[in-house]
Amino acid sequence: MIIVTGATGQLGHAIVEKLLERLPAQEIGVSVRDPGKAEDFEKRGVRVRQGDFDDASSLHHAFEGAAQVLMVAVNRTGPERLRQHRAAIEAARDAGARRILYTSHMGANPTSPFPPMPDHAATEEMLRDSGVAFTSLRNGFYANSGVMLMGQALETGLLVAPQDGPVSWTTHADLVEAAALILESEGRFEGVTPPLTGSEALDLEALAAIASELCGRTIKRVIISDEEQRTNMASRGLPEAAATMSLGLFAASRQGEFAAVDPTLAALLGRAPTSMREVLREKIAP
Ligand SMILES: NC(=O)c1ccc[n+]([C@@H]2O[C@H](COP(=O)([O-])OP(=O)(O)OC[C@H]3O[C@@H](n4cnc5c(N)ncnc54)[C@H](OP(=O)(O)O)[C@@H]3O)[C@@H](O)[C@H]2O)c1
Repeated sequence: MIIVTGATGQLGHAIVEKLLERLPAQEIGVSVRDPGKAEDFEKRGVRVRQGDFDDASSLHHAFEGAAQVLMVAVNRTGPERLRQHRAAIEAARDAGARRILYTSHMGANPTSPFPPMPDHAATEEMLRDSGVAFTSLRNGFYANSGVMLMGQALETGLLVAPQDGPVSWTTHADLVEAAALILESEGRFEGVTPPLTGSEALDLEALAAIASELCGRTIKRVIISDEEQRTNMASRGLPEAAATMSLGLFAASRQGEFAAVDPTLAALLGRAPTSMREVLREKIAP
């Protein structure tokens, strides 16, 4: 049985949907914090069990009988996240899983200024130490995040943000398909995968240019200092931690931490990954 965690989140839910297209439902299980949100899967024959990374005993029950566990990284950063990931890895090992898969990031790096990246690197270290075969899916930077960084630019005509660097934006849908294919092929992709990325790395200036073309009016890229970004965020009532996260992202992208473009995802999918132009076209003129 393949167990997927985070199956009520965006990536995990879509991975289960993709697996259901390929495997009998009885071979798929989900470990979710709130089984009430996974009723659609239960109705279709997927095993739904409650599993919270904060509660090891729930994970032991949820992972029972797992041949593989796909562990979706939790959506926060810091020591709490690492404790949660450790609990999930230990529970998968104790359940006798042959392989643990983890949704890491292309920029996993212990010294990155972007807080989630050291967390991913530390989790990969735990996987190495677990004694269980593992595959760390080094997912490309979500294309959704690129759209989010554009903020109100489509309405205001100004893309205002600190200096950035190129990022190989990658869609959830392509990463979902890759995860499903890798889950089905045990023995391939042992350890850390190459970066699973889209086919080009684009900075915000390039995104502004594409968006300008698509909507037929100029979207101007305006660079502000990190301090101005911090002040702007504070004036919008955002907490200090959000500013640290945002500035860490820009600093890491300036250092080229998300600039790698790798052919592995395209080779796996047997087609070109979805481009940022397609993503923006869908947003601007769905
Ligand atoms: N590659 C990238 O660029 C990028 C960008 C942003 C984030 N990420 C990472 O990718 C992950 C998946 O992305 P996504 O879009 O699917 O995010 P998402 O929709 O926020 O899903 C996160 C999942 O983590 C689950 N979770 C949180 N705390 C948990 C806990 N204590 N025990 C068990 N599960 C827990 C959530 O459960 P509930 O459904 O119960 O809330 C949710 O299903 C994120 O969590 C984040 O680590 C990657």
